[in-house]
Amino acid sequence: MKILFVCLGNICRSPLAEGILLAKAAEKGLDIEVESAGFESYHINEPPDERAVKICDRYGIDIKENKCRLFTVEDFDKFDRIYVMDSGNYRDVQYFSRHEEDMQKVSYLLSVIDGKNQAVPDPYYGGEEGFENVYQLINNACGKIVEKIEQKQL
Ligand code: 4NP
Repeated sequence: MKILFVCLGNICRSPLAEGILLAKAAEKGLDIEVESAGFESYHINEPPDERAVKICDRYGIDIKENKCRLFTVEDFDKFDRIYVMDSGNYRDVQYFSRHEEDMQKVSYLLSVIDGKNQAVPDPYYGGEEGFENVYQLINNACGKIVEKIEQKQL
């Protein structure tokens, strides 16, 4: 199973999701590949935002080594599932898609919890408390993803 998380900057939400899912998969001994990508070129090759690094540190997850990269059309071929954080990401991914099968791999991350296309809010312009909220949302969703993989529903 190969999973890609997508957000706008690839320095806050999607690297958080990558780190959290990798940690949960390691706990369960699941063999999966996980990456993250974004659409803004401001931070290419940079590590995640220091507030994202800090919140992960608090929960024993190290995401410092992640390097920001852009989403590419090849990601549709490389990954089995692509999870976006919000409607802007969804539209950006859709713009890159070549055919319906590409979009069949794409869903809102929080839809794994209740089937609803709700956004993981962008914490970039807020304070540190926004990162705690986003961490909890993503942590719940990643727990569900692991359950689905274990139950072969993904
Ligand atoms: P992210 O947050 O999409 O969760 O990584 C953002 C990070 C940086 C920017 C926007 C959103 N930016 O415009 O630089």
